[in-house]
Amino acid sequence: MSKIFVDACLGKETSYTPVWMMRQAGRYLPEYMAVRKEAGNFLNLCHDSKKAAEVTIQPLDIVGVDAAILFSDILVIPDEMGMDLSFVKGEGPKFSDPIASQEDLERLIGGEEAADKLTYVYDTIRLLREQLDARGDEKALIGFTGAPWTLATYMIEGQGTKTYNVCKKMMYANPELLHNILAKVTEVVKYYMLKQIEAGVDAVQIFDSWAAAIEPSKYDEFSWKYMVQIADFLKERYPEIPIIMFPKGVASFIERGLVYGNFDVFGVDWGTPMALAKEKLGDRYVLQGNMEPCRLYSKEATTACVEAIQDVMGGKRHIFNLGHGILPDVPVENAKHFVYECQRVSGKK
Ligand code: CP3
Repeated sequence: MSKIFVDACLGKETSYTPVWMMRQAGRYLPEYMAVRKEAGNFLNLCHDSKKAAEVTIQPLDIVGVDAAILFSDILVIPDEMGMDLSFVKGEGPKFSDPIASQEDLERLIGGEEAADKLTYVYDTIRLLREQLDARGDEKALIGFTGAPWTLATYMIEGQGTKTYNVCKKMMYANPELLHNILAKVTEVVKYYMLKQIEAGVDAVQIFDSWAAAIEPSKYDEFSWKYMVQIADFLKERYPEIPIIMFPKGVASFIERGLVYGNFDVFGVDWGTPMALAKEKLGDRYVLQGNMEPCRLYSKEATTACVEAIQDVMGGKRHIFNLGHGILPDVPVENAKHFVYECQRVSGKK
């Protein structure tokens, strides 16, 4: 069955522009909070395929998006490589034993062996595949991973960071170790994505959420080229599965014409003007994005932005989304309004 989201990713003409939101399965939904409460905590929820499938589907029914994104987290990858992940209330993710040396890196499980440990993710995808197919409503399922660089920032810092000083110290003082870490994570991610595809996702997105931490002249060397290697590996095996690249905060990399690679969709963050992305990338890639997520606090600000994006993109080679994840205190009705407006301006309603 042809799905509008997949068709749009592949640059085919569609009857309206599909829409979804990064972080759409999450805390702004009371229904999500109820299931998370039943699960006990966030990681338990990731490990419980039935509950993870349930919260993946919630935004389809509640806000009306055209695609579901698998409920999981990027940090389950280093967790299964052997790093001990926990989520500390109010502080976010923590690894008890960050990587500081080649020996630390060598202790971690790599390649397909690490990817094979993420069985609960593939189980969730298989369940979702069955449930979505049974609905027959042509909603797509998106799988995802963190980019090697974004994953490495957590693996090296041991937690989220504002300054990235530990991993950037490694970037300049011991680049070989950083490259070894990135290469090892890249190998795991290749197989992780392959196995998500084989379990049944319709498309995959690579989140490079912390791309902007790297100075522009080093972005290709420490991040983009590894993302491109993952895309090449997948395209060799499953050329028909769309790949979405989302490097956040790389307007100057785009502006200087440095984006390359064999993938289908470029996710435009909210700090990059859509017109710039269209001029530089629109012929080669379908563009996804890019409303500033805080506009969701105002329906008027949302409508104005959706109309402005539609004016630039004209309903061609475009997927509506936010320019980063939805925040937990956004009113659900405003998220519904965003989805409704995207579908209205592009001709669905
Ligand atoms: O998009 C979706 O709806 C699918 C699920 C999803 C989650 N995390 C669920 C989640 C996805 C795609 C992610 C990706 C992710 N995780 C990224 C990249 C995307 C981005 O937003 O840039 C990053 C950097 C992470 C790491 C991470 N996970 C952090 C920093 C945190 C804590 C910060 C916070 O927002 O509290 C998480 C936890 C997390 N991942 C939550 C959810 C719904 C909140 C957990 C909870 O229920 O309390």
